[in-house]
Amino acid sequence: MFTVKVLWVCSLLVCGSYVMADTPANCTYEDVRGTWGFSSTEIAGDNSINCTVETQYTRKLKITLDFPDLAVDEFGNTGHWTMIYNQGFEVVIAGRKYFAFSFYEIQDNKVVSECCNTFPGWVHTVDERNWDCMQGMKLDCDARNRKAISQPDSRQLGEMPLRNLHTFAKVINSMQKHWVATGDTIFAGKTVKEAHRMIGGQRSARAFPPSATATNEHLRAARALPTLFDWRNKDGVNYVSPIRDQGDCGSCYAFGSMGLYEARERVFTNNTVQKVYSTQDVVSCSQYSQGCDGGFPYLIAGKYGQDFGLIEEECFPYEGKDMECIKTACARKYTRDYYYIGGYYGACNEPLMRAELVKNGPIAVSFEVYGDFMAYKSGIYHHITGLEGKFNPWEITNHVVLVVGYGEEQGVPYWIVKNSWGTSWGEDGFFRIRRGTDECSIESIAVGILPVI
Ligand SMILES: *[C@@H]1O[C@H](CO)[C@@H](O)[C@H](O)[C@H]1NC(C)=O
Ligand SMILES: *[C@@H]1O[C@H](CO)[C@@H](O)[C@H](O)[C@H]1NC(C)=O
Ligand SMILES: *[C@@H]1O[C@H](CO)[C@@H](O)[C@H](O)[C@H]1NC(C)=O
Repeated sequence: MFTVKVLWVCSLLVCGSYVMADTPANCTYEDVRGTWGFSSTEIAGDNSINCTVETQYTRKLKITLDFPDLAVDEFGNTGHWTMIYNQGFEVVIAGRKYFAFSFYEIQDNKVVSECCNTFPGWVHTVDERNWDCMQGMKLDCDARNRKAISQPDSRQLGEMPLRNLHTFAKVINSMQKHWVATGDTIFAGKTVKEAHRMIGGQRSARAFPPSATATNEHLRAARALPTLFDWRNKDGVNYVSPIRDQGDCGSCYAFGSMGLYEARERVFTNNTVQKVYSTQDVVSCSQYSQGCDGGFPYLIAGKYGQDFGLIEEECFPYEGKDMECIKTACARKYTRDYYYIGGYYGACNEPLMRAELVKNGPIAVSFEVYGDFMAYKSGIYHHITGLEGKFNPWEITNHVVLVVGYGEEQGVPYWIVKNSWGTSWGEDGFFRIRRGTDECSIESIAVGILPVI
């Protein structure tokens, strides 16, 4: 038996004044892998259940999370699990789905990740009928599963406007010929901090797994795929919804997620349904993400879409800021299934991404953004090393976008990617990035969903 310490001290959204993308937890696969005690309530409510209020955990279950994605409970039932970046994990076993963010607290200006504990999370039957609250506690906990890191000093990132953008672009253009940089970007006049927010927000932790090794089977399947593919022009038809503009809010994950849902709805309805979904609903109402401070497509296009559903844009139009959730009476559209490509976090690679893209439609990806990406104008982007911090202070961020196609130009394979910085940015709102080399970790955590049609 095990008992649960009631650990949570503040809601994820208001925890401290820590402004950054996502939650500051930094828990790895190895931290979470092991045997857990899951405590849950027996409220059996619907999805309006509020798990942040004080709850009595009466139901207990022991579950072992093992390699690579195997979950086994104390009765011998088996299921599967996945990490969600370094933020939390989801387990599906014996007809129930469990999800919780990993626990962290801020102590003496340090973020302490307590990877053996979770914040209060949610558990529901896979048919979505019965919802309870849950909390997890790892039973074979180890001191290594608890770690403290210093909070980055946000003053470093300055309120100063970005400087020397034209010189920066000139240097980039003199160093290589694959892509063109410009100083006349949407970032001109912004402060370093504002630019960071638009590109995903400052991060304290980087947790992209390496792209998984492609098996012979993966490679064989990929050889049967077309060498060029573009959902904007598949046999003359465009299945990609219009480019949007996220503004100064760190909501790239909501735009990537809605773009994913919109495109796949078009693909699965032969383009007869062409809706645009509300990103403000996600920013304001989702407890699976952090408003203008970030989130992940797995939890939004996927889990939020499945558990709560999406509403159309006009129902709750985008304002680009954190604001209160407006409960509307609008019809909601749901996600039937969602998955990391390869089956779980850590199993993704380039041939699997292409196979998924061609079969089911565009895919949401996250990638690491370095300062040089801000200057992108056209061509096939790859990160240029050696310029870090030379022109402006920069912390690497994690930006979510939508891959809509791929191709090859003069021997350089690339992905075609939809961004959410308006149509005047990049190649009419899109960019291309080197493919097949896990450039900026773009081939490590791709997500697919299937919409309910
Ligand atoms: C849950 O309840 C708390 C305390 O009453 C409240 O502050 C919070 O907004 C509620 N959350 C949701 C999602 O309803
Ligand atoms: C997050 O954890 C990983 C693995 O323990 C570590 O390599 C990385 O440096 C951590 N990130 C930070 C910012 O501490
Ligand atoms: C899909 O739409 C196109 C264009 O309207 C049409 O020609 C085609 O027959 C449709 N395919 C199916 C399977 O309905």
